[in-house]
Amino acid sequence: MIERTLSIIKPDAVKNGSVGGILARLEKAGFKILAIRMVSMSKKQAEGFYAVHSARPFFGSLTDFMSSGPCVPLVLEGENAIAEYRKIMGATDPAQADAGTLRADFATDKEKNAVHGSDSPENAAIEIAYFFTGCELAG
Ligand code: CMP
Repeated sequence: MIERTLSIIKPDAVKNGSVGGILARLEKAGFKILAIRMVSMSKKQAEGFYAVHSARPFFGSLTDFMSSGPCVPLVLEGENAIAEYRKIMGATDPAQADAGTLRADFATDKEKNAVHGSDSPENAAIEIAYFFTGCELAG
């Protein structure tokens, strides 16, 4: 099934100059980049995006980090894009991520882990709508 998923190149990866490297990997893997922008989220906007994690002990630190500088949200489209992108992204903790995954190659630690990816079709729809509107998703 052709799906869409939301990816974010996080502030750590933007700061250290990994945007181009990550985009090249995504294109090489066959994803269509349907939409892309650069956003500097406020603390409140980061809290809104990660609202499902608001009870977690790392919520404050995560939202500080996500509002610490520009990030690059993008919409990827492709066959089983949600699961396929999660495979390429690798485990949350880069120390546990398989060799050759984005997090193994670009992330620093569990929090500054270079990239985000939606975990279900429901969350992909919510997360895409958080950053992009109809016209931007025309492909
Ligand atoms: P992401 O895929 O964007 O979804 C939630 C984020 O919370 C995750 O990536 C990490 O950046 C962060 N996160 C998850 N677990 C931890 C943890 N134990 N400590 C700090 N940050 C975490």
